[in-house]
Amino acid sequence: MKTRPVKPSASRRNFLSGLGLLALMGAGVFPMPATAETARAVQRHRQRIEDLIAAMTVEEKAGQLNLLADPFRWMPTAVNPLDGTGDPARVTALIREGKVGSLFNGIGAETGRRIQQVAMEESRLKIPLLFAADVIHGLSTIFPVPLAEAAAFDTHLAYRTARAAAVETAASAVHQTYAPMVDVARDQRWGRNVEGAGEDVLLNNLLAAARVRGFQGEKGLDDRDAVLATAKHMAAYSGAIGGVEYNTTDMSEQTLRGVYLPPFKAAVDAGALSIMSAFNDVNGVPASGSRKLLTDILRGEWGFEGFVVSDYTSEQELVAHGFAEDGRDAARLAFNAGVDVSMVSGLYLEHLPSLVASGEVSMARLDEAVRRLLTTKAALGLFDDPYRGTDPVREKAVVGSREHIALSREAGRKSVVLLKNDNQLLPLNKSQKIALVGPFADDVDNVWGPWTIWGAPERRVSLEAGFRAAMTDPQALTVARGSGVETPLDGGIEEAVRAAANADVIVLAIGESQKMSGEAQSRTEIVVPAPQQALVDAMAATGKPMVILLRNGRALALEGNVKNAQAIVVTWFLGEQMGNAVADVVFGDHGPSARLPVSFPHKSGQQPYSYDHKNTGRPANPDLPIEEYKARYRETTNTALYPFGYGLTYGEVAYGPVEMESNQMAWAGTLDVAVTVTNQGAHVAEELVQLYIHDRVASLTQPGRLLKDFKRVTLRPGQSETVRFTLNARQLGFIGEDNTYRIEPGLFDLWLAPHAQGGSAAQFRLVGPA
Ligand code: NOJ
Repeated sequence: MKTRPVKPSASRRNFLSGLGLLALMGAGVFPMPATAETARAVQRHRQRIEDLIAAMTVEEKAGQLNLLADPFRWMPTAVNPLDGTGDPARVTALIREGKVGSLFNGIGAETGRRIQQVAMEESRLKIPLLFAADVIHGLSTIFPVPLAEAAAFDTHLAYRTARAAAVETAASAVHQTYAPMVDVARDQRWGRNVEGAGEDVLLNNLLAAARVRGFQGEKGLDDRDAVLATAKHMAAYSGAIGGVEYNTTDMSEQTLRGVYLPPFKAAVDAGALSIMSAFNDVNGVPASGSRKLLTDILRGEWGFEGFVVSDYTSEQELVAHGFAEDGRDAARLAFNAGVDVSMVSGLYLEHLPSLVASGEVSMARLDEAVRRLLTTKAALGLFDDPYRGTDPVREKAVVGSREHIALSREAGRKSVVLLKNDNQLLPLNKSQKIALVGPFADDVDNVWGPWTIWGAPERRVSLEAGFRAAMTDPQALTVARGSGVETPLDGGIEEAVRAAANADVIVLAIGESQKMSGEAQSRTEIVVPAPQQALVDAMAATGKPMVILLRNGRALALEGNVKNAQAIVVTWFLGEQMGNAVADVVFGDHGPSARLPVSFPHKSGQQPYSYDHKNTGRPANPDLPIEEYKARYRETTNTALYPFGYGLTYGEVAYGPVEMESNQMAWAGTLDVAVTVTNQGAHVAEELVQLYIHDRVASLTQPGRLLKDFKRVTLRPGQSETVRFTLNARQLGFIGEDNTYRIEPGLFDLWLAPHAQGGSAAQFRLVGPA
């Protein structure tokens, strides 16, 4: 078989050199953020940066690379307790001495100005501080968690929420966000699925790029509404063995380059000028000590010119990993590998001067890291205006603005996935008698989702509030918690049964609390906790129709009466407008339009799982309950109960056959494919038509299905629409044995489908090269 390797994309940023402004303006879904303005902002200060580097002592250089928690504006959270470095007097002294380059997780225009003033007026070299923060799904206005938003399959929506978050963040005197997380997550036991875009590579790539563009904006990083995006955690953090948080990852070079690295590349191509190195070990080398990842690939292959920041003490953890002897050794290894900025550990400040003195770290490497950070500060406009125009009046005007709150509700309803709707139980009638039951019925503590530090608690909308606001007679709603999240509630079930007695329909708000996903929240069983399952059993025994509203930060394995309920809706954590957003969908003001970005398995024990697994030499027939000596489990086939891409509408959409102009694609040509979709239902349907392929024969075996494109179409009842796609050969390649992207001619399956386990199929042959 003839093969042809394809060179990686030649698009490189010329950020540091200031050359090639045109190369900065690549084509994309949105205008490129690393615009000519950014390059010009850098250019203006190039000489000043060199003069500063020449004037800095080694201690000041090490200090510039020292990133500490902001003790002035800190909000302690479970994830970020205030550590020992958090003494304001000590940190003020360090700023004066030039021993801090950045602070993180403090917000506020007024105090921000005061802290910046210390650097600008009381330090020797007057280098502005960089303020960073974990703005993951909104600063004050809280949007759906990233996994929920991924379900919207809508890059423009992701762009808009990131943009709104950036506007609030920049106004609060923060210059950098530690987002987006672009870790492709295929083990639902791992807690941080909730922070990413799910299991598929293409969706991760698209959302990584959209979110970076959203945070950084289109006008250049020095725009007052732009914040620096940080793609994290490089790399393969989500590949943790057994789904155990912080665990080792061990994978082929093809999986690393084909699955885990592409979203980082997409983020870099979209203009991200900061990368966070991961906690985990990748094939024996901790990511934060990996020269291969952080220098050879990131800079050598992709041309990244921003700076790399460690994750919270991840460079110090090289010692616990068994990779470095002590703190000094860890600083040496991480720094020489390519970690430019050290988060919280203080190891760079402590050891870089002596490492340079001994020659274990070169002065050139130190200067390079300082230059990268100063250049990014210049790009952000900090050398033009260290306060970036922030003032408390503007902060008050944009933070939690009406427009942002409305966007949160819009994003929320667009993220709700309908899994099951027997007998068209949904949408509910607004004048029905409803029993709203479950630990999340009236709860406001679990609407934001993990990674919310600065939300406004008073704006959180419970399901109860959202339902009452939507219903014709708010008194027709009865509410009972029935159970705690992980523990039973005394008399809870009895109360729930009483609430259900007079109702036409029971709506059960059950699932995970927001503390059950996120960092360090791995689970062994991805199920609805037992006390809630018992509540659902009791409700099912009433014989009333039941709608399940799942609250979740990961895919769940649904069981028993949860799985068997007439209607199942995935509501994730939708942010502050959760109650309203869910009511919009449940009562039919907005038809469900989202799709699963993660497969819901039959059983917990199927993890890790992703729809794009390989066929194996003994593929099992998914329709047979039992089949011996095939690639499956005793208890279930290796399929999903609800696969990636799955989601119903209130309409009923039928797919026609695949229409193809030819069953051959020329090597340098394209192939037009189409499918006609018809809404045979009585409600409007927003259908997401998905294009999957399977490379039948390849020099390395390929996934049974891979998403290559998707398009949304709105269909009125009875309406048909032909949805067209154009495929080209560049979409058909994979990482070959030599670790480069290659395309091979031959036979391909193709599906135009409503999800990863269905659709209309066809075949075509890629012919060539001549
Ligand atoms: C640790 C987390 O892994 C990372 O995502 C976060 O940005 C840092 N802590 C800072 O809070």
